[in-house]
Amino acid sequence: MGIKIQDVAYVSFSAPDLDEMEAFLIEFGMVRAERTSDALYMRGLDENPFLQVTYLGEPAFLAAGFKAASMENLETLAREENAPIDSLNGPGGGSVVRLTDPNGFRIEVVAGRRSVARIDAPARSPINDAYAMLRLNTLKRLTKGPSHVKRLGHCVLNVRSFRESEAWYKSRLGLITSDEINLGSPEQALGAFLRCDRGPIPSDHHTMFLLGTGKPGFNHAAFQVADFDDLMCGHDFLKQKGRHHEWGIGRHLLGSQIFDYWRDPWGHTLEHWTDGDLLDAAWGSRISSLQDVIGTQWGPMPPSSMGS
Ligand SMILES: [Fe+2]
Repeated sequence: MGIKIQDVAYVSFSAPDLDEMEAFLIEFGMVRAERTSDALYMRGLDENPFLQVTYLGEPAFLAAGFKAASMENLETLAREENAPIDSLNGPGGGSVVRLTDPNGFRIEVVAGRRSVARIDAPARSPINDAYAMLRLNTLKRLTKGPSHVKRLGHCVLNVRSFRESEAWYKSRLGLITSDEINLGSPEQALGAFLRCDRGPIPSDHHTMFLLGTGKPGFNHAAFQVADFDDLMCGHDFLKQKGRHHEWGIGRHLLGSQIFDYWRDPWGHTLEHWTDGDLLDAAWGSRISSLQDVIGTQWGPMPPSSMGS
């Protein structure tokens, strides 16, 4: 039953002002892929034709898109779910199966999208740390400006019942647990960081995090930036632009990413991250505590508004 998705593909929203959304997303470090009268498609540096789409409308989170390994996989999912395969609008084309999860979230699984040419990342020079001196006779000079978003890394959803959602996602999308947040017994599971099962090919520590808050809602989407300096340059830039900072800068415990969270003009939380853990399927699963989720290896604790 089900398929094994390969990665998250995009997140989609609606917003009443596409100019304002585009201005924010450019400051956040994305690049316009396509703009129509009622849709804005944004991309990063990698081959994904778009990783964020905003449709004209009332502000809302609309859907999360995930990448199937092949058209055959998408056909399997469509057959098992008794769902149609539709054409995916926007740059890259492709096909999509639209499902509704137990919380009412729209989950879109896609295949057959055309890749776009990669955009070169800014030139990077090596880091001299206390043990490896790799940059010699070269000065470190960074260009001020937005971060460079390379790709979408994960999406976090608040769900009504964690176990119900966990079963739904695992059985359809083949996700596996990296860390389950547990207060002591299986009945006291609050959520889990889930990664893609790509066998021996390492995946991000989490592609999804399902958090059983009891009240379904979008928590955040997280975009990988070029490196630590790039994240810091973007932080300064967004601060200078007067954007709403949510949480950071710090280093997570679960997933280990250096993180920095911002809010879009309508309050949706978007994360910059770099230097996360990569785990293959054989790495297995762990049980972790609530403290492990909100605690950091360094950096501030989350504000009470985080995740809502
Ligand atoms: Fe995150």
